[in-house]
Amino acid sequence: MHISELDTPAILIDLDIMERNLQRTAEYARTHGLRLRPHTKTHKIPALGRQQLELGAAGLSVAKTTEAEVMLCSGVRDLLVAYPVVGRQKLERLCQVARKADVTIAVDSLAVARPIAEAAQAAGVEIGLLAEMDAGLHRVGVLPGNDLLTLVQGLVRLPAVRWKGVAFYPGHIKDTSETGLAELDVLRRLVAEAIGHLRKNGFAPEIVSGGSTPLLWESHTVPEVNEIRPGTYIFNDRNTVLSGACTREDCAATIMTTVVSVAPGRVIIDGGSKTFSSDRLSNSTEVTFGEIEGHPGSSFHKMNEEHGFVKLPNGPGEFNIGDRVRVIPNHICVAMNLHEQVYGIRGGRVVETWRVEGRGKLQ
Ligand SMILES: Cc1ncc(COP(=O)(O)O)c(C=O)c1O
Repeated sequence: MHISELDTPAILIDLDIMERNLQRTAEYARTHGLRLRPHTKTHKIPALGRQQLELGAAGLSVAKTTEAEVMLCSGVRDLLVAYPVVGRQKLERLCQVARKADVTIAVDSLAVARPIAEAAQAAGVEIGLLAEMDAGLHRVGVLPGNDLLTLVQGLVRLPAVRWKGVAFYPGHIKDTSETGLAELDVLRRLVAEAIGHLRKNGFAPEIVSGGSTPLLWESHTVPEVNEIRPGTYIFNDRNTVLSGACTREDCAATIMTTVVSVAPGRVIIDGGSKTFSSDRLSNSTEVTFGEIEGHPGSSFHKMNEEHGFVKLPNGPGEFNIGDRVRVIPNHICVAMNLHEQVYGIRGGRVVETWRVEGRGKLQ
């Protein structure tokens, strides 16, 4: 089927670009001796998790218990839940997952870790734990230094769990500009001191898990890190382009929409916040929701649920009703969560249709 036969709005994945992104990252990780444990929050599709594993990923990362259940279908043997798991229902389900794959959870308190240990003990399974460190994002994680040491000292005493190392997410570093590189310098020192402090006190982490897509190609410059968890790199998006980690030619995912209304200086496309999400750019104050391919100067500046407002610099005549418009979204991960299925394309033809099996898996 040609893409022109698809109904809109629809997420199209250019498979040549996606495969290049996957291979490039797998090769980078191999070259630098880094375990690659991609975060599947971006694609949410077990078949793509399987491709990542076939290319040498050591395991997969998820945020939610129900995402872990979905990702079992990828054949994964080693799953990291990179999010605090709190609540009996989640723990019971995760212990079931732990019968089928090794499960590790990143935790930043004993209050979170203790019930995990109790649930694992009751279920007769072992769960791995990473101590989550706040490396500057100020989201989750204990401070490096004595707080991290105290957490690790507590984790190693718990039954039915095994402390494996340290995790952090450098999401506060948005790009590799001069400012970004200065922040990376601070991060490098912070991680070295934190891991050095643990080692000095007799706790040598087997895993130091970090990494993000904006810092992907700098991962090896943080010497203590031996595992990376990039997610967005499989498709990339406008945020990744602006971060400097890829070019527009590396963006595999576009959202195809149809022009449904034309007025002087403005067109409306059939995708708004229910199609793209309302995420603004993460490292720019510019108010736009995506880049219209092939129409530089146009500005996708406003959205209602089903309406995308595009301002045109070239006046009327640039678009007609029914025209197809492909948009590189700001943040592909949240857009994937909004679509039931996505289409893999090669040379203008649809060659794959994937259900986004991990969409809406919020628990
Ligand atoms: C804990 C954690 N690890 C890894 C990732 C993947 O990072 P990126 O989207 O920059 O590839 C995320 C993304 O939000 C995350 O929250």
